[in-house]
Amino acid sequence: MRLWFNPASPFARKVRVAARETGLTGRIEEINTVVSPVKPNAGLARENPLVKIPALATPDLGTLYDSAVICEYLDSLHRGTSLFPGAGPERWRALRLQALGDGMLEASVLMRYESAVRPESLQWSDWTAGQLAKVRGGLDALEQECPGWGERFAIGQITAACVLGYLDFRFPQEAWRGSRPALARWYERIAQRPSVKATVPA
Ligand code: BEZ
Repeated sequence: MRLWFNPASPFARKVRVAARETGLTGRIEEINTVVSPVKPNAGLARENPLVKIPALATPDLGTLYDSAVICEYLDSLHRGTSLFPGAGPERWRALRLQALGDGMLEASVLMRYESAVRPESLQWSDWTAGQLAKVRGGLDALEQECPGWGERFAIGQITAACVLGYLDFRFPQEAWRGSRPALARWYERIAQRPSVKATVPA
């Protein structure tokens, strides 16, 4: 299988963490890809018409995207602890937590594009403030929820770890740990996992 990724992308990191947690890295060739929302990339467009990473070329199903779909596909290929719980309340809890983290990542990446890609004269501070409010609201929700996670590191926790890693990488000034001590303790522990350590954004 071939995975189009960029080391800075938190959505691609989700997939790379999942590949490591499921022991599938030996079956995946990682293709480091430069992406920009305003520059064409004909090679990636052939795999994903949305021209987005991550995209995973599979032997049997063509190319899969986005990160949630790829992670669930990888989960179907191994016999270890499942990243996506089977039918029932645990599954809905895991999917809802993944959705919370994905929404925080979308808001964070939009903020990053606003400052790093959009010309300064077109930047809109109210819009950025709106995205930041979503991220902060999500962080407060994670602070409330993380004490209940125990040792679990399923798709929701993987997504949360990628959110926190991306904030440290692109928005260190946000200093999210300040008013969120439980989340900071959880992340300190999770950051030691080999899958998380091996995928720190660069
Ligand atoms: C970033 O550089 O922050 C980034 C790169 C690729 C996708 C999303 C974000």
